[in-house]
Amino acid sequence: MSDAAEPRTPNRRVLVIGASRGLGEAIVEEYALRGARVVATVRSDAPSPLRAFAATTDAVEIERVDVAVPDSIAALRRRLDGRVFDLLFVVAGISLAPQDQAGADIGTRDFERMMNTNVLGVMRAVESLQYLVAPDGTIAVMSSGQGSVSGNTRGGFEVYRATKSALNQMFRSYAARHAADRRALLLMAPGWVRTGLGGPGAMLEIGESIPPLIDTVDAQYGTPGLQYLDRHGAPVPW
Ligand SMILES: NC(=O)c1ccc[n+]([C@@H]2O[C@H](COP(=O)([O-])OP(=O)(O)OC[C@H]3O[C@@H](n4cnc5c(N)ncnc54)[C@H](OP(=O)(O)O)[C@@H]3O)[C@@H](O)[C@H]2O)c1
Repeated sequence: MSDAAEPRTPNRRVLVIGASRGLGEAIVEEYALRGARVVATVRSDAPSPLRAFAATTDAVEIERVDVAVPDSIAALRRRLDGRVFDLLFVVAGISLAPQDQAGADIGTRDFERMMNTNVLGVMRAVESLQYLVAPDGTIAVMSSGQGSVSGNTRGGFEVYRATKSALNQMFRSYAARHAADRRALLLMAPGWVRTGLGGPGAMLEIGESIPPLIDTVDAQYGTPGLQYLDRHGAPVPW
């Protein structure tokens, strides 16, 4: 018999996609703290906060994927074949345009990169990796309050907002196609957080966002169907 403490989460086996730094890395640390075993992905061999944290614990296994490259997702799926996770959390995302830039002023290549990563890449990861999630497990995707169409009264971050709205729409379609599934399907809004993407002027420290956000994800364990929630568990208007 093991004398290890009982995990403090129903999500004991967690797969986090896009976890080298920022919110993804903090999610890995939070789940490790709660006693889960975590597979977390990076894009490269470069030193990163995730690699530094993984060196301090045997709870974290590092994998590689670039969600913008379909072959990379397929290769990850093959390497993880046979594994089962209680939670798949796809966190990867980018923002390439300044806050005040009009949406139509972005370069075509940057627009395509943002859509390809934040929408198509995230959904390709969901579609491919869903088969590794337990039938009563959870698939969570990092959306944003900025993805709310009805909540957009002040503009700003125009293309970034558009990618998260499109992601929400794609994930809604996924949920409709999987209406009979028992899995919890979560679009999460973490608040505006000081990370590489959020910038130094954001409202929240990572420590103010991720622990409550993970409490919310854990509270939805075993609740089938789609929800778009903020970090405290309040529904975000579509
Ligand atoms: N910070 C906020 O205020 C905020 C608010 C709402 C939503 N979000 C969302 O939260 C998620 C994480 O953002 P963050 O603030 O933590 O940003 P971040 O610090 O810039 O981290 C972004 C993460 O995504 C990874 N990534 C980027 N492109 C990828 C790809 N093609 N394949 C795999 N991984 C990729 C990055 O890996 P590399 O290190 O290799 O680049 C990095 O680990 C994003 O989806 C973002 O839109 C953030």
